[in-house]
Amino acid sequence: MNQDDWKAKLALIRDSFLSTLGKTDAAAIAEFETHYLGRKGELTLLLRDLKDFPIEERKILGALGNALKTELSGALDARKTETGAGVVNLNKSQFDLTMAGYPFPKGSLHPLTVTANKMYDGFQKLGFSIAEGPLIEEDYFNFEALNFAPDHPARDMQDTFYVDLKDARGKDLLLRTHTSPVQIRTMKSQEPPLRVVSAGRVFRSEAVDASHSFAFHQMEGFYVDKNVTMADLKWTLEAFMKDLFGGQAKISFSPSFFPFVEPGAQVAVSCVFCKGSGACPVCKGTGWIELLGAGVIHPNVIKACGYDAEKWSGFAFGAGIERFAMLLYGIRDMRMLYENDLRILKQL
Ligand code: PHE
Repeated sequence: MNQDDWKAKLALIRDSFLSTLGKTDAAAIAEFETHYLGRKGELTLLLRDLKDFPIEERKILGALGNALKTELSGALDARKTETGAGVVNLNKSQFDLTMAGYPFPKGSLHPLTVTANKMYDGFQKLGFSIAEGPLIEEDYFNFEALNFAPDHPARDMQDTFYVDLKDARGKDLLLRTHTSPVQIRTMKSQEPPLRVVSAGRVFRSEAVDASHSFAFHQMEGFYVDKNVTMADLKWTLEAFMKDLFGGQAKISFSPSFFPFVEPGAQVAVSCVFCKGSGACPVCKGTGWIELLGAGVIHPNVIKACGYDAEKWSGFAFGAGIERFAMLLYGIRDMRMLYENDLRILKQL
């Protein structure tokens, strides 16, 4: 085939396409399209013949062929619109519009979120309101205002993840190691009396095992008023635990140290699995499970927040939310809360 033959064929295709298009109705238009423009359609095959022409001719003829293809596709689209081809007539189609849709899986709240919400509920019943604080913290809020001496070991690189950015005081920013900075931020921005809880993620440079993670969750709570004592702390935590774990739950206090409280305590709840009878792997036979750190807020912290420490006193506590989730759901390994294996999440 020479150039002229090819051009003649192209012209023939154009003529026959355009002269029959107007007579093609909606039902026949798909077949019409295949006949000319389909994979083995007339125009497609003619364009394929171009491979036998020398490169210079191929360029010119190819441009002509492509221009025609554009022209014909445009005309075809116009005809489709005109005839209503491609519009499904639902009344005549085989779709049953009354048929129910397919069920699709719906998401649910993560067990840690559910646990935090339950804890929030418990404290809200006791008159606490909710506050939030940033995950990237300043040394001042995470340590200094909480009465950590400048050389306190908890500031060490081992425990704290530092960020390669300085705060306004020229100290490295850090990932908060506990939720206690929310105490400082709230006290500095609000007037006492205050009763506040705050849940969120905290970070410590620790190896992951069944009961540790480098990122976990805490709920902080604190109460500042006149004449707040350890007795208020004990009453509040006991009321909270009984609400959450049932009326038989008991709590026990043992002495502990945190720079921002004095006295400080470690608080345990009677084992919810063996009801304190011992012979239980979860509480290791002690009948008690340690749940949180707590204490009476140190006067230095009260002063650092600009309050008169003679007038105001308070208690604070910090609880690991994972610990509570493990007790509520009977989970032995904390990692199950992070792997997000649907087979496990669906059971919780
Ligand atoms: N912030 C402490 C911790 O992370 C817990 C705590 C909070 C202890 C409040 C006492 C009072 O370990």
